Amino acid sequence: MTDRPRVWVSRPTFPDIIARLDEHFEVTAEADEIKFSPAELAAKMADQDAVIVGLKERVGAAEIAAAKRLRIVANLSVGYDNLDLAALTEAGIAASNTADVLNESVADYTWALWLGMDVRGRTLGILGMGRIGQAIARRAAGFDMPVIYHNRSALPPQIERECNARYVDKQVLLRESDFLVLVVPLTAESRHAIGPAELVMMKRTAVLVNVARGGIVDDAALAAALARGDLAAAALDVFEGEPNVHPALLALDNVLLSPHIASASHDARRAMTALAVDNVMAFFGYGPHAGRPPTILNPAVLATANPVPNP
Ligand code: GLV
Repeated sequence: MTDRPRVWVSRPTFPDIIARLDEHFEVTAEADEIKFSPAELAAKMADQDAVIVGLKERVGAAEIAAAKRLRIVANLSVGYDNLDLAALTEAGIAASNTADVLNESVADYTWALWLGMDVRGRTLGILGMGRIGQAIARRAAGFDMPVIYHNRSALPPQIERECNARYVDKQVLLRESDFLVLVVPLTAESRHAIGPAELVMMKRTAVLVNVARGGIVDDAALAAALARGDLAAAALDVFEGEPNVHPALLALDNVLLSPHIASASHDARRAMTALAVDNVMAFFGYGPHAGRPPTILNPAVLATANPVPNP
């Protein structure tokens, strides 16, 4: 063992990209896709200075408390509901995600997931108008679809114009969308944002598309609504309790399911891995972003983190 910082990579990914760490770090990369128990995860993280993890790794208070050397958690996804960000920040541990590099790929996939019905002239509704929502909206012009959206707040007028999208309240969004796409992060607030009360407001001809996170939709309520014909169909890339899928959804013939792969183009996944590596390198003072991890989630930690770059 050298005294170089140690990095654990929780899953097999692109070896040529991970190899960029070799010059400065002791790298341990899992060769197989493994679902670690909380105790196994804590043991894997216990003596690491940095970890590169994905959504299947739930990094909570117990794992953090056991990881005495840990300085940064680089998440291999844009969403980070698998991380207890408050506990990481409290422990002075940095966290990063893979914002932006997947926006266009996820937008392409989202359209591909539900095309299969004529769309021209129909209204596209978007719940959550962050950068992925905007990328989805921009594509609507090519299909001659008006776009309405709901978000915590309206976008600046210039972005609304670029996206050709109109801000509406949530009820209008539910009532007027022919295709309703969900792109909000999962938080305590957004859990079951689409439940029985929302589903009955949708058009009977509407299609619900969830490419965000399982848990934003109440899947049991959705299955019941689809079975009753309260809405026409659903296209789902994410599920409550993944990788399990609610059995009532599996029994329906008006549901299209895919296994959480909206960002899984080869290009996007390479870019996400490179960004996670960049964040780790930068945190420890290496590479083109030395000292400035590009997609840090808790920048306040950097002020006190005092990383020690090796010359
Ligand atoms: C995938 O779900 C992501 O958050 O990147």
